[in-house]
Formats: sequence, structure tokens, C-alpha cells
Amino acid sequence: MFEYQAPANFLQDRVVLVTGAGDGIGKAAAKAYARHGATVILLGRTTSKLEKVYDEIESEGGSQPAIIPLNLETATAHDYEEVATMIDREFGKLDGLLHNASLLGRMGPLFQYDPDTWQQVMQVNVHAEFLMTRALLPLLRAAPSASVIFTSSGVGNKGRAHWGAYSVSKFATEGLMQVLADEEDGLSNVRSNAINPGGTRTNMRALAYPGEDPDTLKTPEDIIPVYLYLMGDDSREVNGQRFNAQ
Ligand SMILES: NC(=O)c1ccc[n+]([C@@H]2O[C@H](COP(=O)([O-])OP(=O)(O)OC[C@H]3O[C@@H](n4cnc5c(N)ncnc54)[C@H](OP(=O)(O)O)[C@@H]3O)[C@@H](O)[C@H]2O)c1
Repeated sequence: MFEYQAPANFLQDRVVLVTGAGDGIGKAAAKAYARHGATVILLGRTTSKLEKVYDEIESEGGSQPAIIPLNLETATAHDYEEVATMIDREFGKLDGLLHNASLLGRMGPLFQYDPDTWQQVMQVNVHAEFLMTRALLPLLRAAPSASVIFTSSGVGNKGRAHWGAYSVSKFATEGLMQVLADEEDGLSNVRSNAINPGGTRTNMRALAYPGEDPDTLKTPEDIIPVYLYLMGDDSREVNGQRFNAQ
């Protein structure tokens, strides 16, 4: 496991956006950031789930979060510009962005892979990340020290049979992270890194491994230390790297 002891309230006065914040790892990360002082913007496609996370953060005494319901499959470049305008208007800044939302698609060999599913996975896992990063970069550049975290996978730097669009999309995610890291290096205070969560007890994992006993897996809360490390100033000089949460 990645070991890191986050200082109390080290994200005080920071504004952090988490995609896919309604469930799984995104939910655990959003709550952990709030617990350490951040104002969290919860973005996702299922409003009821985001509202539940919102209530949990408030009941734990975290600063009031914001909710942005957005379906990454259908959102346009214009929608992301509106997200940026809203964040600027409501908060005046953005210090961190966790790209976490993803789709698994279907498991199976490439020659049988459904083209529409391929496009859907690429849209949510790659194109949406590009559009969102592009729209939010001016706000991130204006922050004194901004962190962009991408979410990769064990199949994101080594291809594996039957992982199809998901595996390819995670290679692209790592590529996006590396290009952004290199472009901003020396130009701004924006750093970009990627996390490979490793097998974690979530809906997506259950979909990929239906026969697996979930109790043998780490929980989203177990893998949060690396998410905290990369969001705070202790990783200020870290850029363009890939981390294993486990
Ligand atoms: N769990 C693992 O073992 C594992 C391993 C390696 C990598 N990962 C990566 O870790 C990240 C989190 O996955 P997870 O395991 O926590 O999965 P999860 O429980 O399925 O959560 C995925 C999140 O993404 C959201 N999402 C999916 N499609 C969306 C769309 N079109 N628009 C907006 N939001 C959308 C989901 O929203 P809804 O809840 O509304 O569906 C959900 O909140 C992913 O990037 C995944 O690839 C996970």
C-alpha cells in the first residue's frame, strides 16, 4: 500500500473538483478531501448519489460542497466552458481536479467488440477528460499550486486480452497526463500525475470480476492515501508520474 499520513486540514481553503464523485473511489476521495479542509465540487451523472455524498460531507462538518450533474457521455465543449464559468463565479478559483469517472464497457476480444460501446468508453474515459482539462486549465493555472490527477489502471500501461476499449482508454489517459505534465512544466504551477488504484471493492470491479469475493479486496477508503498525497503540497514537485495506490 502507498503510505502517506496527510497533515490535518492541509487542503484548507482549496477548491477541488472530483468527477464520478457519487460512488466508489470518487466518493471516498471527495469525502477524504472534504475531511482535510477542501471545498469539494461533486460532479457526476446521478444526482441522487451526488446529493447523498453532499449530505454525508455536511454531516461530517466539512465545508459546504457543490454539485454539478453532468453526463460525460453527452457533454459538449460548451458544457465544460459553462462548468468553468460557474466555478469561477461561485468560488473564484480551482486548486485541484481528480479525473476519476470511467466506464468499463464490455469485456471481450477486439474482433467482436461492439463499435458503439468502443465509442462510448472513449468518450467518457478520454475525450471528456480532454474537454474538461482544456476548459479548466485557465483556472488551474491561476492557482498558486494546482494538481490534476488522472485515473489509470493495471491495463493502462500494459495491454491485456479482452479489456478492449477500457485498456486502450487508460493508455490514452496516461498519455494525456504525460503531455499535459510536459507542457505545463516550467510554464505554470499545474502538475499532473496518474494513479492506478489496483483491485478495489466497487461496482466497476464487480462488473469486471463477477466471480470474485469482494471481501478479499481493499476498499476505496483503504487506497485514499495516494489521492491525498497527490492533491496536497507535499507532491508539489511531482509531475508526470504514475503511482500505484496498492
Ligand atoms: N475499482 C477498481 O478495482 C479499479 C481498478 C483500476 C482502476 N479503476 C478506476 O478507478 C476509477 C473509479 O472507478 P470505481 O471502481 O470507483 O468505479 P465505479 O464505482 O463504477 O464509479 C465510477 C464513477 O464514474 C461515474 N460515471 C460513469 N460514467 C459516467 C458518465 N457518463 N458521466 C458522469 N459520471 C460517470 C459513475 O457514476 P454513476 O455512479 O452515476 O454510475 C461513478 O460515480 C475509474 O477511473 C476506474 O477506471 C478502478
